[in-house]
Amino acid sequence: MSWLPPPGDGRAHVAPSLLSADFTDLKTDVADLAAAGADLLHLDIMDGHFVPNLTFGPFICRAIRRLTDLPLDAHLMISEPEKYIEDFARAGVDAVTIHVEIEGDVGEILDRSGALGLKRGISLRPGTSLDAVYPYLDRVDLVLVMSVEPGFGGQVFDPGALARITTLSERRGDQGLDFLISVDGGINAETGPACREVGADILVSGSWILGSEDRRANMALLRNAP
Ligand code: DX5
Ligand code: ZN
Repeated sequence: MSWLPPPGDGRAHVAPSLLSADFTDLKTDVADLAAAGADLLHLDIMDGHFVPNLTFGPFICRAIRRLTDLPLDAHLMISEPEKYIEDFARAGVDAVTIHVEIEGDVGEILDRSGALGLKRGISLRPGTSLDAVYPYLDRVDLVLVMSVEPGFGGQVFDPGALARITTLSERRGDQGLDFLISVDGGINAETGPACREVGADILVSGSWILGSEDRRANMALLRNAP
């Protein structure tokens, strides 16, 4: 399946985070999310160093790739993404989103990701100044605004994300850029539409979608918001 259309096509893209999936039956969850209308899947990769939690790596991404044609965005909450970019590319993900707070050469990693045919994302923690991502806006496909401290699902949305999305959206318009704005953490029926209203294109949601009785209805609600 191809990547997402550029911003401004009038609809939100819903990205369920598999962090809240049932890993004993991932096949069923992935099929169910695809059937219920997911636009892409969000894969939370944690190394126990950049964040105080561990999840999975390219090996599981490759297994997920075999389960679905949906675009896959690997959110790399890892200190040294430069060591693993090739592995994620080989695993078949479509996009890698790295954090601007890492010590490595962010620009170089973005360039390498692009050369490997990957879509390039950049993310920042709630406490990181938005200025940190400005040097990279002309060479990323998406900016992932964290609305919780990365590391765990099920946290409460930080409303400060709304101002950050607004500023990014304005800057994108002013500079004629076409990166997508994604938001991640605590997205639900209230916070999703609020983010959409200020310019978010991709709404990442883990616990609220995966834990719901009616995933299709909840995804439709996010997609059609506001
Ligand atoms: C947090 C992750 C999120 C998380 C979102 O570090 O980046 O993607 O899974 O989960 P919810 O939607 O439950 O906040
Ligand atoms: Zn994430």
